[in-house]
Amino acid sequence: MNLPIRFNAQNVLKSAVGEHGLDAAELDTKAALDALIGFRARVDSGEVGFPNLPLDQNTAKSVDKFASDLRGDVESVLLLGIGGSALGPSALDMAIRGPHPVQVDQKRCPRLYVMDNIDPGFVSAFLENLNAKRTAVCVIAKSGGTAETLSTFMIVHEWLVKAVGGKKAAQRIVAVTDERKGDLLEIAKAEKYKTFFIPADVGGRFSVLSPVGLLPAALCGLDIKKLLHGAHDANTASWSRTLETNPAMQSALVHHALDTKRGKTIEIVFAYSAYLWGPAFWYRQLWAESLGKRINRKGEVVHTGQTPVPALGVTDQHSQVQLYVEGPNDKMFTFWAVEKPRTDLKIPETKQFLQYDSCAYLAGKKLSSLFHAERMATEAALTEAGRPNCRWMLPRVDEYYIGAFFQLLEFQTAFCGELYGINAFDQPGVELAKKITNGLMGRKGYEDYAQKFGPKKLQVS
Ligand code: PA5
Repeated sequence: MNLPIRFNAQNVLKSAVGEHGLDAAELDTKAALDALIGFRARVDSGEVGFPNLPLDQNTAKSVDKFASDLRGDVESVLLLGIGGSALGPSALDMAIRGPHPVQVDQKRCPRLYVMDNIDPGFVSAFLENLNAKRTAVCVIAKSGGTAETLSTFMIVHEWLVKAVGGKKAAQRIVAVTDERKGDLLEIAKAEKYKTFFIPADVGGRFSVLSPVGLLPAALCGLDIKKLLHGAHDANTASWSRTLETNPAMQSALVHHALDTKRGKTIEIVFAYSAYLWGPAFWYRQLWAESLGKRINRKGEVVHTGQTPVPALGVTDQHSQVQLYVEGPNDKMFTFWAVEKPRTDLKIPETKQFLQYDSCAYLAGKKLSSLFHAERMATEAALTEAGRPNCRWMLPRVDEYYIGAFFQLLEFQTAFCGELYGINAFDQPGVELAKKITNGLMGRKGYEDYAQKFGPKKLQVS
């Protein structure tokens, strides 16, 4: 199928940006095919499962049913989770309903609050501002034991029980976790919480189309069938062995070549839509945690990975673009653009302002024309300055295209992992700090970490 989300890499070529660009021949089609075959084998062997998520209609149906039964009873959904267990749901909500200050559908559906930080002031502010009697709590942790999530869970549980009693609280808490193991699973069983499962072969940052993202989305009134439909179509495109019809592979090749052959170690993700600002932060984790690796699959030290940096068009034109155009040429730019805005406005032809040059040329034009022109101008300025840039173009931001886009970006990441020859699905670099935290907090079994990294007097009581 021909997915109407387009990837355009014209401005990464030498013909556009000179010596910092790539020769078309450097986009290695043989390596692309090997990467696709290598990744396919991981999926077929059951090692990696995110491509299977759009096929799981049964889970989607039961999530939808549960959400529609609960939705009318609550005005807020409080999500407790972190990393892949928070960024996906938040990104879906912001993409479809918009950034919070201007979010739509507040009356019809609950608002989503994501508690993905344990700053005590931040946590207290949630509890002070939410009405416990009208709040549903989604506690999400694949491992079932993440310190940040379990600590906020205990605080929120106490808050909810105080307000509505233990029985009602248990009906208002829903857990999303691994089917087979983890303390959250045991707690959910003991307390009789409704539970949805994350497949064992789907890691946190690849779990947005599992109940991790689908449940909060359904509670907030999003059409999760359309999300999965889009993702399904993205699967079809991403398994294509023809590079021209496989945008995820084209993008993976471009990113990998610019990093490894031209030293573009930073990727600026320039979202030209306020609705794609949340997704840019979801992608930041996906790209960083998947590809930032010390060793490759052969055990050699490689230190791979680009540093992803979200930027917001047009806002950051007046904040970052000076650096981007004239600072170190160590970055590549990926524009995320949208053909059709959610709505459009005409700039009025207000008579008393037409005498001013700064107003006259704008009067009567669509605001979307200015928005598009500013994006094109930024692309042109970067190209002129010899800065390689590429573009994803979405027809619209709706559930179908967001499902498709997220899935394309996950495929892009998986393909890039194969091109680097690293494991894109683990995160050993996150582990040490977690173990030291456990040691400092006095967790049984982590005494060695407390001993090595924290003098006794620093231990937290
Ligand atoms: O991508 C990942 O695996 C991580 O970022 C996790 O999502 C994050 O550490 C949270 O883990 P958990 O869902 O087990 O609480």
